[in-house]
Amino acid sequence: MTIRPLVIIPDSKLRLVSEPVQGITGEIRRLADDMLETMYDAPGVGLAAIQIGVPIRMVTMDVSKSEDERQPMVLINPEIVWASEEKRIYEEGCLSIPEYYEEVERPDRVRFRYMDLQGETVEQDADGLLATCVQHEIDHLNGVLFIDYLSKLKRDRVMTKFKKAAKREAGA
Ligand code: NI
Repeated sequence: MTIRPLVIIPDSKLRLVSEPVQGITGEIRRLADDMLETMYDAPGVGLAAIQIGVPIRMVTMDVSKSEDERQPMVLINPEIVWASEEKRIYEEGCLSIPEYYEEVERPDRVRFRYMDLQGETVEQDADGLLATCVQHEIDHLNGVLFIDYLSKLKRDRVMTKFKKAAKREAGA
């Protein structure tokens, strides 16, 4: 397992629409291991493959509270199949937008479907943090970031900040 470098805004890779995974190969299993290790190291509760630069529809998540009881999830080709009318507001962050947190409104409950590493199709209901996390991660597969839900003013402000930081890094 390898910790991979994270893709950070304003990197345009984060705007790519990721391609479906065609089959569970050794390469896919290794990628899942690397994604989990990168996510736990960060630390974060979710990671999409594109966040380590791989444009395929794969997500890792672990919303368990305790480090002693890890509940790693690997979602292949995940999709939301139902979302509640009721919304909830949750403060979100993103490993591709370090140290930036803002409140985002999303459906309170969702049902999602994915393929697991055994190739089985799984359908699962989610509320709370899991519901927020799975919606946030599936957005990544479509090139959508949580800052897209904020006002233009807030989004422009955070983009400008990270563009400046990227320039400084390039110039250093
Ligand atoms: Ni994210």
